[in-house]
Amino acid sequence: MTELLSPKTRIFVAGHRGLVGSAILRHLGEAGFHEVLTADRATCDLSHQSSVESWMSSHRPEVVLLAAGKVGGIYANDHYPAEFLYENTMIHANVIHASWQFGVRRLLYLGSSCIYPKACPQPIREEYLLTGPLEPTNAPYALAKISGIKMCDSYRRQYGCDFFSAMPTNLYGPCDNFDLQTSHVLPALIRKFHEAKTQGQAEVEVWGTGTVRREFLHVDDLAGACLFLLKNFRGTGHINVGTGEDLTIQELAESVRDVVYPEARLKWNTEMPEGAPRKLLDVSKIQELGWRHSIELKDGLRSAYQWFLNHVAEPAA
Ligand SMILES: NC(=O)c1ccc[n+]([C@@H]2O[C@H](COP(=O)([O-])OP(=O)(O)OC[C@H]3O[C@@H](n4cnc5c(N)ncnc54)[C@H](OP(=O)(O)O)[C@@H]3O)[C@@H](O)[C@H]2O)c1
Repeated sequence: MTELLSPKTRIFVAGHRGLVGSAILRHLGEAGFHEVLTADRATCDLSHQSSVESWMSSHRPEVVLLAAGKVGGIYANDHYPAEFLYENTMIHANVIHASWQFGVRRLLYLGSSCIYPKACPQPIREEYLLTGPLEPTNAPYALAKISGIKMCDSYRRQYGCDFFSAMPTNLYGPCDNFDLQTSHVLPALIRKFHEAKTQGQAEVEVWGTGTVRREFLHVDDLAGACLFLLKNFRGTGHINVGTGEDLTIQELAESVRDVVYPEARLKWNTEMPEGAPRKLLDVSKIQELGWRHSIELKDGLRSAYQWFLNHVAEPAA
């Protein structure tokens, strides 16, 4: 079997400043890869075809990890559908096409569990893609991500490119987005409980009924999974990456409260949207290959809050 990756492989991490890309960068460094290429948005705007072609032509990566995109929680998806559809479509179209043009020999595209139908049987198997209508609040984002998967599959089918996709569940960890307007539920809860604690408020408002179920994976586990897949995955199409375990949003909110502000009371705002009733990935495919997560939610929440305190929170007066 030819070696798919070596420490000298030239690997381009697209989106290296984000939650996922920065974790992948840390992992590659720790694993001894020393030809890792990055480009910030000012150097190469991935939504501009000419800038992607020119960068790829001069840097010639052998492997591409596509972790760039416009990402956000339910509020952002609901308010900026055009941006979510346009930017994500442009980014993957440009990067995947240029990877073919400039002879990239392996590409891993990161999608999201949002690609699956709203009323999917649970846990969600890879083959449930395109078997029913999407959750309306994030359908534009999901459609962009589905087109990225299909682009990888099509370039493989027509040109023989070794391009494939991974579908991570909800992620959290260092470098997460804690802006309440655009963040996902877990970092939003960390910020809300922290601000309530520092402002001496007894109650914390949480969106929805608390009954919907979600799965969460620490981004360091995802980074490990990406490296594992680049080395070991010989299949085609897309593969789920998650823990295979979920909990209700109420249980999540209580867990965050216990870490950040145990004295707080939860107040549910049932006027606010809460998305699909359940989204749990079936991770048997990646587990059969030999990968499983190692960071349990309670430990991950503690380290995520510590990261927030060190990097985001205002120092106490
Ligand atoms: N976060 C999650 O829970 C989650 C779950 C499942 C899947 N994913 C997938 O993982 C991938 C990365 O997500 P993330 O959470 O790491 O997002 P993120 O933290 O927002 O990071 C996105 C990265 O993409 C870069 N980027 C965006 N538009 C760009 C452009 N036009 N040109 C160059 N760079 C651009 C950003 O650069 P700047 O630093 O300049 O903004 C940033 O570095 C996405 O494909 C997402 O669908 C994420």
